[in-house]
Amino acid sequence: MDLVNSKELLERARAGGYALGGFNIHNQETIQAVVEAGFEHRAPVILQATPGTVKYTGSDLLVAMARALAIRANVPIVLHLDHATDLELIEECVKAGFTSVMFDGSRLKWEENIRLTRWVVGLAHSKGLTVEAELGRIGGQEEVTIVSDSEVNYTDPGDARRFVQETGVDSLAIAIGTAHGVYKNEPKLDLQRLEAIALAVNVPLVLHGASGVPDAAITRSISLGISKINIATDLKLALAAALRSALLAKPEENDPRRYFAKARGEVKNVVSQKMRLFGIEGRA
Ligand code: 13P
Repeated sequence: MDLVNSKELLERARAGGYALGGFNIHNQETIQAVVEAGFEHRAPVILQATPGTVKYTGSDLLVAMARALAIRANVPIVLHLDHATDLELIEECVKAGFTSVMFDGSRLKWEENIRLTRWVVGLAHSKGLTVEAELGRIGGQEEVTIVSDSEVNYTDPGDARRFVQETGVDSLAIAIGTAHGVYKNEPKLDLQRLEAIALAVNVPLVLHGASGVPDAAITRSISLGISKINIATDLKLALAAALRSALLAKPEENDPRRYFAKARGEVKNVVSQKMRLFGIEGRA
């Protein structure tokens, strides 16, 4: 099977009351960890790369790795560009073979966000890709982008409806109290707002900054209309902890396959646990 876009997978998740994981990958090992978990749980997989990861690895190499695994695995695999703000990078990833892109115009004024998101939708749809956009502003730090508490802006349900109608996006990331990165305090999600947004718009909704959100809040948000959940930090923490402990336990070890194999397994365990929580086991 070749890579697929996320249209049908997200629509099915929305109708079925479960959520897909948007798992941020950074290198070959993390790509393998996510796909192996999907394969084991017969779950569709969204591999997502931020602009920083595209720069680190190369769009061509990311596509080649994802494609090779898609052919081997018998579960659908989406390769998604996460939080892109640069239109040239979006064009590069569309050309390279990504199957889904997020244009993040959340820092822009309403008119400009609509104009640029529409442009991205036109380009992506003409090549068969799906588009996620963001309305409102999600807090925390995602790579070089830092959104302070005073800049956080929860998504308004009426604006969300207008935004989706005017841009034609396939899914919408919303701000309801989550933040990217490690939480200082337990996040409190505005679930009433989520319910109102889900009633107002007719496309699948995406929850960013879901690492560190209590399981009960995740389950509740899925039941209220979240169809895709993004996880980056929890995977990075598992990878870093496993590498740290392997190298500290055996400082003379110099074979990367040894310490990476263990770390890859730890990332896979976290992905498996999230897949169970999101209810996507057996949905491929
Ligand atoms: P976390 O790093 O909080 O898991 O957020 C990931 C994310 O939303 C990527 O877009």
